[in-house]
Amino acid sequence: MSGQPVFHHFGVQTNDLDNSIAWYRDFLDGEVTWSLDTFSELTRSRLPGIEKLVEVAVGALRIHLFQQPGESAPAPGESCPRFQHACFAVSSEAELHHWRARWLELNDSGRYRFAVPEGPTDVVTDPDGTQSFYAYDVNGLEFEFTCVPEAE
Ligand SMILES: [Fe+2]
Repeated sequence: MSGQPVFHHFGVQTNDLDNSIAWYRDFLDGEVTWSLDTFSELTRSRLPGIEKLVEVAVGALRIHLFQQPGESAPAPGESCPRFQHACFAVSSEAELHHWRARWLELNDSGRYRFAVPEGPTDVVTDPDGTQSFYAYDVNGLEFEFTCVPEAE
């Protein structure tokens, strides 16, 4: 055994691949690095109906978007077993506000169809000084952006 596992990518299931690619490209400056449209039997049994997989790279982060027929995300208050949110860290409060403003700007463009029509939350500050806001991607998956104060 050598070392601990290193995070590699997360997978996002979508019923509108082009909408998702546009979102991650425009919001996070992601780049499409590869795509796949033939799948192993294992993949086809895990993800029935899978049509296409596209990797979008955001720096060292990889997002695997896969097109699969299905319904949109459940309402935010409805509980179901899934990763509840993924979080990106930024280094300043100004950057937090930058990302929140960027979300709003892209939303206002009208170029995307959002499964959950809710804007980003305000930036909240926890008692330890950590600041965050939460926002949904076009598929209704929740992301957090956070700024953790440096230890003194
Ligand atoms: Fe969190």
